[in-house]
Amino acid sequence: VPPLIVAPSILAADFARLAEEVRAVEHAADWLHVDVMDNHFVPNLTIGLPVVQSLRAATELPFDVHLMIEDPRRWAPGYADAGAYNVTFHVEACDDPVALAKDLRSAGAKAGLAIDRDTPIEPYLELLPSFDTLLIMTIKAGFGGQRFIPQLLEKVRTARRHVDSGHLELRIEVDGGIAADTIEQAAAAGADAFVAGTAVYGADDPAEAVRRLRAQAER
Ligand code: DX5
Ligand code: ZN
Repeated sequence: VPPLIVAPSILAADFARLAEEVRAVEHAADWLHVDVMDNHFVPNLTIGLPVVQSLRAATELPFDVHLMIEDPRRWAPGYADAGAYNVTFHVEACDDPVALAKDLRSAGAKAGLAIDRDTPIEPYLELLPSFDTLLIMTIKAGFGGQRFIPQLLEKVRTARRHVDSGHLELRIEVDGGIAADTIEQAAAAGADAFVAGTAVYGADDPAEAVRRLRAQAER
């Protein structure tokens, strides 16, 4: 298990050249972050299951699917069946997160719980033993290219204390506005998985951008 995970988000890639864009980071990245938005849970609309199924054959990278959708109990297991490594859904969209985590694990995927900008973390700490990943948004979910909100790292610190004191096996992932400067703050707060869209695909050399981010996080 690599100590730190860097997960480029294809939301910032050129959707007309998806396979190529994914291969550009294949040897530098740990996971590929795939943002699924349904125009209901968030106002934006991105890609869904058919694209994930097709893309699965184009790369060896594990898929870190981030579902920003309503009714994840209906849709999430399909992403596990499509070969996603980790499937993360939002706590705000699910009334029985532990049951869905179980479904995902029995479908062969890791289970992730996402916490959006305006959602406190404390009520959900007790659910964490059922999960493999905790995704703490460092922006409001919905769009790439937004500004990192440093105050949200307080949730990362709280989660890190809880994970360490309970000896939980759980990745703490941050998503939104992660770049060379902010990744260091997020790592210091206790995150060990980092999603980056604009900072990777906005760079001339996406693979080099991933390597730089990793080096920053390791400092
Ligand atoms: C936004 C998505 C993010 C997005 C991050 O809701 O969940 O994964 O791609 O993009 P940047 O890194 O540009 O903030
Ligand atoms: Zn995301």
